[in-house]
Amino acid sequence: MKIGIDKIGFAMPKYFLDIADLAKARNINANKYVKGLLQLEMSIAPITQDIVTLGATAASEFLTEEDKKNIDMIIIGTESGIDQSKSASIFIHSLLGLSPFTRAIEVKEACYGGTAAIAIAKNHVVSNPEASVLVITSDLAKYGIGATGESTQGAGSCAMLIKKDPSILILNDDNVYQTRDIMDFWRPNYSDFPHVDGHFSTKQYLDCLETTWNEYSKKFNKSLDNFEAICFHLPFPKIGLKGLNTIVPKQENENLKDKLNENFHTSIIYNQKVGNIYTGSLYLNLLSLLENSKSLSSGDNILMYSYGSGAVCEIFSVTLVDGFEKRLRSDRMADFDARVKLSIEEYEKMFFEKIELDENGNSSFISDDDSLFSLEKIENHMRIYKKNNF
Ligand code: HMG
Repeated sequence: MKIGIDKIGFAMPKYFLDIADLAKARNINANKYVKGLLQLEMSIAPITQDIVTLGATAASEFLTEEDKKNIDMIIIGTESGIDQSKSASIFIHSLLGLSPFTRAIEVKEACYGGTAAIAIAKNHVVSNPEASVLVITSDLAKYGIGATGESTQGAGSCAMLIKKDPSILILNDDNVYQTRDIMDFWRPNYSDFPHVDGHFSTKQYLDCLETTWNEYSKKFNKSLDNFEAICFHLPFPKIGLKGLNTIVPKQENENLKDKLNENFHTSIIYNQKVGNIYTGSLYLNLLSLLENSKSLSSGDNILMYSYGSGAVCEIFSVTLVDGFEKRLRSDRMADFDARVKLSIEEYEKMFFEKIELDENGNSSFISDDDSLFSLEKIENHMRIYKKNNF
């Protein structure tokens, strides 16, 4: 049975910060961010946008009434949970109006959580061939004002429908994973921001890539010329380029190097404008490649590298199916152009605003949030969401 991604959608908040403005405010040469990290902008979420609203919006981009009837499982991969107990996917289930006979869960392992969710979804379809699973990757990456990771923040969500005989791509059965007990990036329960050993994390990311790729190519007898493109988890786009240079040997044939390089630059277009979205970052990279490449065709294989700090990583491949381009958007750049640019002062106030509760656990927001879904208020410690009917 062929199982894979049938539909894919993306959502981001309507605000962004120009990375050059951030560099100026922090007294840093803008080239460090623009050329050193290959980052251009970052998405900024107001207090009324979180993993639930972004996830529901991403799924709304493609869900039909028929899809809603067929979905019997919704999984969110996230490390920006809104509750220690209740899964964020239950809120999304409700906002989207999915069938009550659905399993709704949340998966966590840093940025790897989205890939883990896809693996669970695929296994579910293996044993329930008529099932459709909605996988949501949704995160707000915040390091804090003046932190070294500040230039790699972001906010956004990718949603995917996983089913048999998919319309976009097949998830091949060639997964190789690796786990290492390391402290490169973590966020204790009491902390608003992650602790990160930035340079160590980068080294681990690249070493996990190299060792997992060596194992993968040995186990499945595959080499780079089996692939048209490589998609990476992208905390910042430059790390993908370093990844490419790590696994593509210097003496590799020039045509292959040029092709992988060209597709890499196509794949980072959206990430450069959004920043790190943790669990969704790899899938935004894939979306950017699929929606902007002029050279991909059905039957092409794409190598995927997923990395989550802590750390777990995975390499697997996907194969494009006939007519994949019909299920994709060609006008997404207009969404980026429509965003509102923030000043540094607006960004600092908006991205780090905290919910203030009264003694009864109530809070309401004075907000002009006109997004499809937003957080309306907190009542007796319960988050209340609303859907704007356009
Ligand atoms: P830093 O110390 O601020 O920057 O930290 P740097 O000194 O390493 O410089 C960055 C690059 O800019 C370097 O390029 C410089 O040379 C260059 P490189 O040598 O590495 O190719 N540069 C310049 N280029 C042109 N003109 C200039 C200039 N100045 C410098 N004037 C770091 C950078 C990424 C470490 C920091 O931003 C950070 O800590 N980020 C957060 C952690 C992170 O993203 N780690 C990545 C791997 S871990 C991961 O992917 C998991 C994660 O997504 C979390 C999860 O799994 O949940 C993070």
